[in-house]
Amino acid sequence: MKVAGERGCGEKARRHSAIFTMIFMVGGCRNPISSEVHVALSPEPFVVSTKIEAKPDSNSAALEPNAMMGRGLFEQRSSNSCLFCHGGNGKGGLVNTGVDLSRPTTWKVYLALGGKAAYQSDRKTFVARMKIATTALIRDGAILHNAQFKEPWFNWNAPSMTPYKNQMLGLGGSASQHWMSLFEDVGMTPTIAAEAAWIHLGMLDSQGILAPRGK
Ligand code: HEC
Repeated sequence: MKVAGERGCGEKARRHSAIFTMIFMVGGCRNPISSEVHVALSPEPFVVSTKIEAKPDSNSAALEPNAMMGRGLFEQRSSNSCLFCHGGNGKGGLVNTGVDLSRPTTWKVYLALGGKAAYQSDRKTFVARMKIATTALIRDGAILHNAQFKEPWFNWNAPSMTPYKNQMLGLGGSASQHWMSLFEDVGMTPTIAAEAAWIHLGMLDSQGILAPRGK
């Protein structure tokens, strides 16, 4: 694979008529003029090719969460990144999280939504709610989420359910904050970042519970 890291920082991104190709890459530099965006602190060189339709008369383009964006965020290599606490495969990180991100049936959200019976009776609704609750947790972190997530379908009193441990910082970790700040000027928001993380969680899922792979 030709990696983006082999290119110079000043190289202009290739442009198709109305399409920007955004490249998320290693290098710790970025060129604000071109549409290349370089991610510092990525674990290894990789290219995210996201086709973003350029809006006429505007420099801003709609930023769509995608799998490689989610991976770039998740795998930041400094303290309090998702990777730091959870490990690359969603287990075995540096914090004893007590959760295996590759097994969504073991997550608290699975309990709070009614567990296996609820999942089996309406898988689509269950997973849609799982996404809403989990992206909110990732975006807000445990402390806020415990206090403010009040959807009627999320049962904080479900059997074996307990509030989320405060260590679950989600995007509140400094590494994630830094990563988001790199993309602020192309429209990155905590919600987009949390949805990208959700897509990455779908890639880690060994049980086939979350969204189909790559979506
Ligand atoms: C400082 C450490 C830390 C960071 C940073 C962190 N987490 Fe967590 N995370 C935890 C802990 C601890 C738990 C277990 C919480 C519990 O079970 O009460 C957890 C739980 C989770 C869960 C399971 C939710 C559930 O319903 O059980 C998901 C999904 C998750 N984290 C995703 C992420 C993502 C994505 C990121 C990065 C954006 C992230 N975490 C960053 C510590 C962290």
